[in-house]
Amino acid sequence: MPLENTTFDQAHHTGSYPDAAAMVAALMPEQPVYCVRPHVLRGTARRFVDAFPGSVLYAVKCNAEPMFLDALHAGGIRHFDTASLPEISAVAERLPDASCYFMHPVKQRGAIRAAYDDHGVRHFVVDHPDELAKIMTETGYSRDVVIIVRLATARGAAVYDLGGKFGASPRQAAELLETAHGAGYRVGLSFHVGSQCMTPGSYTAALRLAAHVVELARVPLSVVDIGGGFPVAYVGLTPPPLDDYLEAIAAGLSQIDLPGDHEVWCEPGRALVAAGASLVVRVELRKDNFLYINDGVYGSLSDLKYAGLRFPMRVLRPEGSRVEVLADDFGDFSLFGPTCDPVDVMEGPYRLAADVREGDYIEIGQAGAYTIELRTDFNGFYPDRFVEVEDDAFLPSDEMEPCQRLSQAAE
Ligand SMILES: Cc1ncc(COP(=O)(O)O)c(C=O)c1O
Repeated sequence: MPLENTTFDQAHHTGSYPDAAAMVAALMPEQPVYCVRPHVLRGTARRFVDAFPGSVLYAVKCNAEPMFLDALHAGGIRHFDTASLPEISAVAERLPDASCYFMHPVKQRGAIRAAYDDHGVRHFVVDHPDELAKIMTETGYSRDVVIIVRLATARGAAVYDLGGKFGASPRQAAELLETAHGAGYRVGLSFHVGSQCMTPGSYTAALRLAAHVVELARVPLSVVDIGGGFPVAYVGLTPPPLDDYLEAIAAGLSQIDLPGDHEVWCEPGRALVAAGASLVVRVELRKDNFLYINDGVYGSLSDLKYAGLRFPMRVLRPEGSRVEVLADDFGDFSLFGPTCDPVDVMEGPYRLAADVREGDYIEIGQAGAYTIELRTDFNGFYPDRFVEVEDDAFLPSDEMEPCQRLSQAAE
């Protein structure tokens, strides 16, 4: 069983510090360092589990690092949305009392067999009749399997659209439900409104579509899975409170004709782990307002470029044996990652201390989601050092708005 105070047992975990500045003072690290806040992860998980009227499945793809899994488990998460056999194995080995759900709509046959036979997985997602047939064959036609049909939904106001690649149309979804139910399986419906979804009404709209599918299919749903997509704050992007989402979900669910014993699930990733880590990078060179740093698009920071998300940032400056946090006199900067590829650029404006220079460190907040998990070792750069820190999550604040945007707002 994991301990309440997460233990850091891997070789790349190198200690515990009051905050990122103390870590820099102690280590003066040449490589990027993830500063993990297990207490923040535990608290976020606990609040989400307490607030959501159903089961909370953590979307492991967002961050599968063992210390994150441990902390979420300590915060009350017992269900895990997994998309591959390695994810299922990672959860099963670490957290023997957890349940995994195979939520990728396209699965390898061997992975279905191993999930069912070796890991006791009983819930599988489909969005096509051939995938349903595959699951039936590979699980030996066992009727203890629950088939969850993934419905495509409109993108709405999400930063990432997840509807283009997966999801059945309402008619196809109804047919899949009928076929699976007719074959003797319990069935459910799922969807994903898109990641970092800024409008609670997107869930109501998706559930309205689900209600339409239920009318077409006329089969009892055992599960309604409203997916992930719950947003977190980035600079210039403040989402509505969680309560607004829960109200919108309740309004949507009330429109569906559901049997008394149905379950409601959600699959959050970003909302559970983003605030649980910051990343400390080092400035290797400054050219005007361009900073060359030691992590980038091929490492932890692809969301800066491809999603245009503005993560909170602050400069940590070593001065003798102390490290100062530079918190005023800002300028706007763009960032280059460490690889030789010109794609490895994160265009700003990022608001940082105007005199930032080589040897300074930059702490980047909200770095627990879709960062560590997306690393590559391209060009030999692979951030892999973790420490634990004890301070509050590093979140965006008004001063982080780019100067340009601030002055426009003042006009
Ligand atoms: C099926 C599924 N569920 C849940 C998630 C987690 O989404 P989010 O991090 O936006 O909550 C994803 C993300 O890609 C997903 O594909």
